[in-house]
Amino acid sequence: MDALDLLEQQHLEVSALMARIAAEPSPGLRTAMVAQLSRMIDAHVRIEETYLYPVCAERMAGDRKPLHDAYEKHGLARFAADNLLRTRVTDVRFEARLRLLRDIFAHHADEEEDILFPKAKRGLTDEQLDVIGSDLERAYEVLLRVGVPAGAPLARSQRGWPRRGAHAVRALRPVSRRRGEALRVRGC
Ligand SMILES: [Fe+2]
Repeated sequence: MDALDLLEQQHLEVSALMARIAAEPSPGLRTAMVAQLSRMIDAHVRIEETYLYPVCAERMAGDRKPLHDAYEKHGLARFAADNLLRTRVTDVRFEARLRLLRDIFAHHADEEEDILFPKAKRGLTDEQLDVIGSDLERAYEVLLRVGVPAGAPLARSQRGWPRRGAHAVRALRPVSRRRGEALRVRGC
């Protein structure tokens, strides 16, 4: 699957889950849904930072402002998601914290889809986007299942990953790199 289509699909899935959480009357179901939401957001930003952003960074030396903005939005989304996860669904602040996360994530999705993804689309062939898409899809599924401890580094080549994250680390190693097929990009 095309990497950008996959990431846009994840934006929709995350947004849809937040809407379902807002409408869910059962505290038990809401709590379970928030845990799932937190895993989805964490996995989504990790695979973007591991696979897509480095490729764009190579090609955006002259104007990395959109990329810097994207990293900052990831930080905000992580903070808001962690904050929501630590908030009881019966807490009076829960609704406000969910609304904040929805706003931050919507902003993140809009900026990527309007600015960053079009640049990536111009810089990569359809085949390259499919290769990255396969890596993204595989890593996302593993991260949802296994996860990586909070605060663990994201870099694929980072040494000393915590043991619990070992499976996810292997999943984050791009298939394309393991096959020695360096991605050549035209420029984002
Ligand atoms: Fe995204």
